[in-house]
Amino acid sequence: MTRAERQAELSGFVVLITGAAAGIGWAAARRFAAQGARVLIADIDADKAASRARELGAAHASFGVDMAQPEQVAEMVRACVSRLGGLDVLVNNAGRTDTDGLGVVDQPVSTFENLVAVNLRGSLNAAEQAAAVMRRSGGGAIVNVASGAALRPVPFRNGYSASKAGVLAMTRHHACAWARDGIRVNAVAPGYTRTELVEALIGRGRIDPAAVARRIPLGRMAAPEEIAAAIAFLASPRISSITGATFLVDGGSLLGSFGPTGETNSRAAPAGKPAYVVIGACGPIGRAMVERLSAEDATVVALDADGRQMAALAAEVAECHALPVDILDEYAMAQALANVARRFGRIDGVANAVGADAVISGKSDEALADHLTGAVRVARTAGPILRQQGFGTLVNLTSIGGEVAFGDNVEAAASAGAVTMLTRTLACEWSGHGIRVNAIAAGPIDATAHAVRRMPLGRAVSAQDIAETAAFLLSAEAGYVTGSVITVDGGLSVHAGPDCSVAGYAT
Ligand SMILES: NC(=O)c1ccc[n+]([C@@H]2O[C@H](COP(=O)([O-])OP(=O)(O)OC[C@H]3O[C@@H](n4cnc5c(N)ncnc54)[C@H](O)[C@@H]3O)[C@@H](O)[C@H]2O)c1
Repeated sequence: MTRAERQAELSGFVVLITGAAAGIGWAAARRFAAQGARVLIADIDADKAASRARELGAAHASFGVDMAQPEQVAEMVRACVSRLGGLDVLVNNAGRTDTDGLGVVDQPVSTFENLVAVNLRGSLNAAEQAAAVMRRSGGGAIVNVASGAALRPVPFRNGYSASKAGVLAMTRHHACAWARDGIRVNAVAPGYTRTELVEALIGRGRIDPAAVARRIPLGRMAAPEEIAAAIAFLASPRISSITGATFLVDGGSLLGSFGPTGETNSRAAPAGKPAYVVIGACGPIGRAMVERLSAEDATVVALDADGRQMAALAAEVAECHALPVDILDEYAMAQALANVARRFGRIDGVANAVGADAVISGKSDEALADHLTGAVRVARTAGPILRQQGFGTLVNLTSIGGEVAFGDNVEAAASAGAVTMLTRTLACEWSGHGIRVNAIAAGPIDATAHAVRRMPLGRAVSAQDIAETAAFLLSAEAGYVTGSVITVDGGLSVHAGPDCSVAGYAT
């Protein structure tokens, strides 16, 4: 699929976005419309929603809705189907926050209830109404906009934090319940985002943007378009294995309340063709990443020790440069990466799949030596080059075994957990150099029939989905994503319910 095809991939899709007259919702509406979708702009401000729809063009429509009113939510979904002909993607974005600065015991219950009515119950009602439509038409995608505040407490904004934590739990539950209906449900958890609301607060002196930036590892707030890119990624019809996931897009804020660490030499990547390096390129996942990145207008260099397989890779994926190197030999690796940087003048992204296939399948006997120490070697060899450039990104491949117990290989699980934390530590250490570091925690790509029965989606994870996720994390579109771990596991890690193949489970 070419870049142009990807940009128009939502042609014929209908997308309903709540709270779409402003901020993140409006950025998402523009984004989906640009990809060919028809958008229903739903908002409590009906006039503004109508003018936004006119701005997008005749193919789009608007609807005035108060998400706190269940009958209006049901009417909104009916209006989407009758006016735009269906419903393929729901973005539950409308939300309110508490600004009264009151603690739990001082805040009137009615204020708390209103936050829950809009942020949580409104989203829940919309999801259930939308799922009924999607089930009839064979599937769809739901993206719930939560918040970093759902993952750590924000004192004196308790109703907001609680309602958004509820949204994450709802996301996981719906993902498991509706997976066999072909409906994927995921959440985006944004950090501080410069929407009109935040700009207005800055204008009135209520927020000091410099003070906020000092508490964010990437040293700035997000642009609404960066959150919209993550929403569009999760809703993409190219993705089939991501469900029940929370995608944190917060510039590293959750890692700790500190700004860029150490020296700061961050700069934008220069114009021109980006250069990506895939390390551990000959396994199924590394190979899928090489194939996916080669479809971009980019230079792709594949590194692996297996000379024979490297020759086959170079023959089959004509666009890639295959470089045989012993990836467990740190000196040889450092030389190879330095050569790549010299030859192409830059390294924009490194995808590290070293030891990943064995850890993800739980078959590794030497996970701590291969996968974990391999990740340290990649960091030690790629890090100096990226830090000197002042831009670049690293994606580590790991397994959901780092978070939940599955399979019977304890060493693979221990390595996966360690690589996850290594990823977060590197994201902190390198934030001042403009380097983003993230991980993909994958579920099994070759699951047994027994394991597949426990997977909400009912099939093994696709290596292509892992590669697609890596391509997104490596791209400039993910410019505000660092220290994040995205699960690509068909919902396996969030599912603690019965065998998913049991009839009647998905109700
Ligand atoms: N801006 C941030 O820093 C930030 C950070 C984390 C999460 N979020 C979340 O992202 C989402 C969008 O936030 P934003 O910053 O773009 O907000 P915003 O205030 O700029 O826009 C929200 C939109 O929702 C609409 N809305 C509010 N109450 C509604 C209701 N009851 N029914 C229907 N529409 C309603 C508003 O009219 C507005 O158009 C929210 O869920 C918010 O909690 C925002």
